[in-house]
Amino acid sequence: MTSRPKILVTSAAGKTGLPTTLQLLEKGYPVRAFVRRRDHRSEALKRSGAEIFVGNQYAVTDMRAAMAGVRRAYHCAPTAPNGLHFSAVFCAAAAEVVGFEHVVSLGQWLSSADHPSLFTREVYLSDLLLRMRPEMTVTTVNPGWFADNYLMVLDMAAQLGVLAMPLGDGSVQKNAPPSNGDIASVTVGALIDPDKHAGRTYRPTGPALMSPDDIATAIGDALGRRVTYRDISERMFLKALKAVPPPNFSEAAVTQLRIYAEEYRRGAFAVNAPTDVVLTVGGRPPERFEDIVRRAVASRPETRPSLARGMKALGSFLKILATRAPDTAAIEAEKDYVQLGRPLYVGDDSEWRRDHEPTVTSTALRKAA
Ligand SMILES: NC(=O)c1ccc[n+]([C@@H]2O[C@H](COP(=O)([O-])OP(=O)(O)OC[C@H]3O[C@@H](n4cnc5c(N)ncnc54)[C@H](OP(=O)(O)O)[C@@H]3O)[C@@H](O)[C@H]2O)c1
Repeated sequence: MTSRPKILVTSAAGKTGLPTTLQLLEKGYPVRAFVRRRDHRSEALKRSGAEIFVGNQYAVTDMRAAMAGVRRAYHCAPTAPNGLHFSAVFCAAAAEVVGFEHVVSLGQWLSSADHPSLFTREVYLSDLLLRMRPEMTVTTVNPGWFADNYLMVLDMAAQLGVLAMPLGDGSVQKNAPPSNGDIASVTVGALIDPDKHAGRTYRPTGPALMSPDDIATAIGDALGRRVTYRDISERMFLKALKAVPPPNFSEAAVTQLRIYAEEYRRGAFAVNAPTDVVLTVGGRPPERFEDIVRRAVASRPETRPSLARGMKALGSFLKILATRAPDTAAIEAEKDYVQLGRPLYVGDDSEWRRDHEPTVTSTALRKAA
């Protein structure tokens, strides 16, 4: 019998939920893994020792059942419409659990009150909502642009030798991309030691700032071919997202990705990066982007060059060219997205800038890199 508290992991089949579940199990914690459906991912989690709970995170009845008997949880709201609803459901259910003590919540580096992205404003409000509950303590994990985002276009880079993303000039705006496993390690560190991490906010990053050209070179090295970064327009980006939608991205989420790309071009993800929290909270050195890509390439046979795959990638490219760009303003209007009179990107937001100034650690790590 274990005396360790049972931990609920929401979005357990997702990018950060899955490694969070596996790392907790490795450390001997019993885990209830909240998934949307039974499939090969839930089977893998079950084989590793997780208790599988199938439910809908929008449904308070499901969340109440998922929370029964747990004392800590990873709250990871999916990137989906009505994100605030996920947090309201989570808080309502947590408030009823006797002995519920600690939550680690996945937020965003951009989280701010007046952000142009409705999703991001909802993340900001979720942070406030979670911290209003007196019966539990909260740790917030606020990553920036995940390493995984670049891997969405890995197949095209493998077959056509191009990394096409709307990130601005290839040598200018930088990011220190964290792996999903490293974000999970920080989450796990905070879940297993609430006394140390309650009330804290952490931003996991990779070990070094990289430009889009650096990212393309690292992808090329992992693939064993030359890959060149191409800055594409916002319109082309939206066409690509519509023609070849990434898994789990609704039409509503696509409208927000446009805003996140604008933040990237404005340099928001370079601020205060890299950090040392993967090491200090997660207990392991952060993974180099090169190693993240090598692992992805090794696990994805479709990245190996072949004539058929090359033709398929070319077909996708032609499909993108032929696709009409979605009208994001019309989508937001149709979905009744709340608009602000004076939205602020984070670089224009004095409150955000005050709270996210470069630290002594980030400056030292940047110099050492
Ligand atoms: N990507 C970035 O660069 C970035 C940066 C900062 C913060 N974030 C934050 O990351 C969070 C997403 O985390 P993630 O990437 O780890 O998650 P993810 O990979 O998108 O996974 C979300 C999971 O939730 C499941 N799901 C969706 N709707 C559900 C519902 N109604 N009920 C139950 N399950 C549901 C999905 O199931 P299926 O897979 O079965 O569909 C999926 O497995 C967002 O809150 C976002 O703000 C992302």
